[in-house]
Amino acid sequence: MANIPYRTYLTEEQMPKYWYNMRADMKQQHDPFIHPGTMKPAVKEDLLPVFCEELVNQEMNTTDRYIEIPEQVREFYRTYRPAPLIRAYNLEKELGTPAKIYYKFEGNNTSGSHKLNSAVAQVYYAKEQGITSLTTETGAGQWGTALSMAAAYFKIPLTVYMVKVSSQQKPYRKAIIETFGGKVIPSPSDTTEAGRKILAENPETGGSLGCAISEAVEKAVTTPNSRYVLGSVLDQVLLHQAIIGSECKAAMELLGEQPDIMIGCAGGGSNLGGFISEYMGERLQGKNNIRFIAVEPASCPSFTRGKYAYDFCDTGRMTPLAKMYTLGSDFMPSPIHAGGLRYHGMSPILSKLYHDGMLEARAVSQTSVFDAAITFSRVEQILPAPESSHAIRVAIDEALKCKETGEAKTILFNLTGTGYFDMTAYQQYNEGRMTDYIPTDADLEVGFESLRKLPVNEGLL
Ligand SMILES: Cc1ncc(COP(=O)(O)O)c(C=O)c1O
Repeated sequence: MANIPYRTYLTEEQMPKYWYNMRADMKQQHDPFIHPGTMKPAVKEDLLPVFCEELVNQEMNTTDRYIEIPEQVREFYRTYRPAPLIRAYNLEKELGTPAKIYYKFEGNNTSGSHKLNSAVAQVYYAKEQGITSLTTETGAGQWGTALSMAAAYFKIPLTVYMVKVSSQQKPYRKAIIETFGGKVIPSPSDTTEAGRKILAENPETGGSLGCAISEAVEKAVTTPNSRYVLGSVLDQVLLHQAIIGSECKAAMELLGEQPDIMIGCAGGGSNLGGFISEYMGERLQGKNNIRFIAVEPASCPSFTRGKYAYDFCDTGRMTPLAKMYTLGSDFMPSPIHAGGLRYHGMSPILSKLYHDGMLEARAVSQTSVFDAAITFSRVEQILPAPESSHAIRVAIDEALKCKETGEAKTILFNLTGTGYFDMTAYQQYNEGRMTDYIPTDADLEVGFESLRKLPVNEGLL
């Protein structure tokens, strides 16, 4: 066997002290947020009633290449970071591929995913500002869990609007959020105007991330000294997740390795954006030629079948509009098990990179994702989250292509989390009851129609 270990751990001392801000190396920035009332570019003051001030500063910071990670955040990070970089020797053997497969494992904390990286940063800045309560939404439950851990640590009350179908599929996710002190409300609910409206139109709906965001934002702006925090999509979240990529790059360099292909699943884009950031920064400067691949569910194909247009980040149309790949904020994704990937839009940074041809995207079906998850878990001994398994699917596909061509490419993917709370899905798959749902063009038209009606998109669609 080669002298590359199965697991490479950086020391606590080697853990990055700065978040890398990819935007500083992007020659062109994505288009600015648009204020939904004035339909003009949003300025800092527009965002302050909803978000914490330092996070708004980070959202708008396109010039500082490195932003220092506050000491208290690094202290928290040390409870579960640095995260290991794993050489998938067993998977390589199982596939019989000449490819070298590596993955970064972000599931090594109680919340079970990368979401904690941004949760702790966001709660820290809220505490510093003297904010007395926080609201958020959660899809799969990972973000809600991560945030409840961070809120417990910094002692700030938290209300989590959890997509109704997820709260039913994953009662233990709800229980763990409550164990850490978060209050869980299945969304849509009757606790907000937005929720009541959605329920009146569609009483049987299982909810969506877009709809839970509307409720959480409304709750924050109608509660004194409260703010809303978001687990993905925004530039600030990708910034915090850059620690994944920086650790990865440091570990790969220690091993003398350089990826040819980097793969990540994409819901709102935060893990992928953080994972690829340093390497993408180098690619933008012409220093490498790595292929970057985003993997999304075929049932919610924002990149591969969406439009690049301005859209609301939520269903209730309360948030600023972002220019992104989107299926339209009215699009209701089918209840697939990768709840964290059921989002109509996509990170504006990744959307811009995709539009400029720097990022590829693939859409994969649910059953093919679980095929990959089973193969992976049986040889690598980690039970992956359904979301993360989207990346595994494409990593396996790329490794099998190498088997055909005989190329020994280096494939690096991000394993964002574990699937212990997804056993209903695994059970369905094991019993042969899992199905695929791929929206028809007519299904997608419903969402696109709402985009065409927005004056800001005139001439774009
Ligand atoms: C385990 C896991 N991976 C990936 C995602 C997708 O989110 P993002 O695209 O922001 O990384 C989620 C979202 O909930 C998740 O829980």
